[in-house]
Amino acid sequence: MRKTIIAGNWKMNKTPSEAAELAAAIAQIQGAKCEVVICPPFVDLFYAKKAIEGSCVKLGAQNCHFKESGAFTGEISADMLIEAGCEYVIIGHSERRQYFAETDETVNLRTKAALAKGLKVIVCVGETREERENGITENVIDRQIRLGLKDLSKEEMANVVIAYEPVWAIGTGLTATNEQAEEVCKFIRGLIAKLFDADVAEETTIQYGGSMNAGNCAALLAMPNIDGGLIGGAALKPADFATIIAAGSAN
Ligand code: PGA
Repeated sequence: MRKTIIAGNWKMNKTPSEAAELAAAIAQIQGAKCEVVICPPFVDLFYAKKAIEGSCVKLGAQNCHFKESGAFTGEISADMLIEAGCEYVIIGHSERRQYFAETDETVNLRTKAALAKGLKVIVCVGETREERENGITENVIDRQIRLGLKDLSKEEMANVVIAYEPVWAIGTGLTATNEQAEEVCKFIRGLIAKLFDADVAEETTIQYGGSMNAGNCAALLAMPNIDGGLIGGAALKPADFATIIAAGSAN
């Protein structure tokens, strides 16, 4: 049975003291039967870690470089994240691709480096509005998955989560319909079966992300190929995040 994972991507929000407060509120949420992960900014990690101690909430980061150390100003290594208490890292978020020139190749390098150090990786994929309108959504996802997961072993796939996040739905309030989200998540599972095997595909958690909120989460998470959510805006509101966790626990 694959795991349902509800992950909060805090993006560039919350100072360390604010992060400690939000993480503590999330740690108070009761009754989660799914995996709950929070991904605060780097400088908040230690404070968030302290605030979730003793709870089931896991810590993640929003990026990780592929080199172990060295002259890479502004970057962070897998070892640093692990020592700060991270179990997860998000790689290839569309904002990284769009604003910081991440490519499928760097996504692959970062993913492999993080896995080699023992982190679980949430690999993000998704088409832009223009790509969807041009009818090339599946081609784009196919390329992102093939190149992003290139040379990974079946064993490594046990530590990979895929987040399908249509770029046009992120932070816009425009959610993909349940059917649109399901269709692409199903396509991704089929592709993983082709690239690895049916068992790997069956076991891989595929999240939906893009304006998932307290109102639409239950229907999205009830779709057969959607095994969780990567949540931005609503992850900053403990009551809304609790509703999403409850919906993730119902499946
Ligand atoms: P959103 O962000 O929920 O604010 O749309 C999701 C994401 O970018 O991971």
